[in-house]
Amino acid sequence: MTVGPRLPGKVALITGGASGIGAATATAFAQHGAAVAVTDMNDNLGREVAANITANGGKAIYLHLDTTNEEHWTEAMVEVLAKFGALHVLVNNAGIADRRPDNKTTVKIEDTTVEGWERVFAVNSTGVFLGVKHAIAPMRAAGGGSIINISSIYGVVGSGAGSAYHSSKGAVRTFSKSAAIQYAGDQIRVNSVHPGFVDTPLTANTHADPELMAPRLNATPLGRFGTPQDIAMGCLFLASDESAWMTGSELVIDGGMLAQ
Ligand SMILES: NC(=O)c1ccc[n+]([C@@H]2O[C@H](COP(=O)([O-])OP(=O)(O)OC[C@H]3O[C@@H](n4cnc5c(N)ncnc54)[C@H](O)[C@@H]3O)[C@@H](O)[C@H]2O)c1
Repeated sequence: MTVGPRLPGKVALITGGASGIGAATATAFAQHGAAVAVTDMNDNLGREVAANITANGGKAIYLHLDTTNEEHWTEAMVEVLAKFGALHVLVNNAGIADRRPDNKTTVKIEDTTVEGWERVFAVNSTGVFLGVKHAIAPMRAAGGGSIINISSIYGVVGSGAGSAYHSSKGAVRTFSKSAAIQYAGDQIRVNSVHPGFVDTPLTANTHADPELMAPRLNATPLGRFGTPQDIAMGCLFLASDESAWMTGSELVIDGGMLAQ
């Protein structure tokens, strides 16, 4: 059996594509033949990711897109269609944690401000809603598509971590099922991905602190943290036609954590 590129002819937009899971996903998609719009608010890093893709023979552009800003979505869709002519895959990956400024400890519910709660929801939930909203028309025009919403294992179970993060990721889980049902008739598939503990800039401070790191590692039966590539491979499957009969599903990639 010959295994060829898995996304030939597809056009994908990835949010939060400048770093971690988003950068690995953008790179994997391009390696498998997709034309990729790497989007983020971190323009320097985002441009670097797109430049690395093109330097390695792939197709990529970088676009500044704050996922909480609806005008940015409108502009991004216009640019993607002008540059690549269609949109087949959207990965709503941009997300933030609700940690204290040291990026280590989380805020308890009694100390959570409405402003902090709403900021986390704006990025982790509203940003995902806006992405789906603006992807429907171009995907319908393309005859269908695949939308991948990055939730978390923390969108499925509780923990001592911030409640805004848990709730906003839980919203992504059920929003994805709602969108899957609404747009199945258009052949637009919508699935959520639930990463476990992955080494990225988001978790770097937590994983560098032995006291915070050890319980996470102990809760991961496969005995190591995930890599961005571990999650990118799941996204690759959901983006490809190999998952053509999957919608409204949850893909858990967590080293076994949720099996306990
Ligand atoms: N790392 C983990 O352990 C883990 C576990 C479960 C879920 N996740 C989720 O995976 C996704 C990616 O996380 P990561 O670990 O790669 O984080 P990361 O911090 O490395 O990357 C996140 C990217 O999102 C961008 N971003 C933040 N807010 C944005 C906004 N409003 N608009 C556009 N871009 C924005 C950042 O600039 C950054 O480039 C997030 O949704 C996160 O919640 C991560």
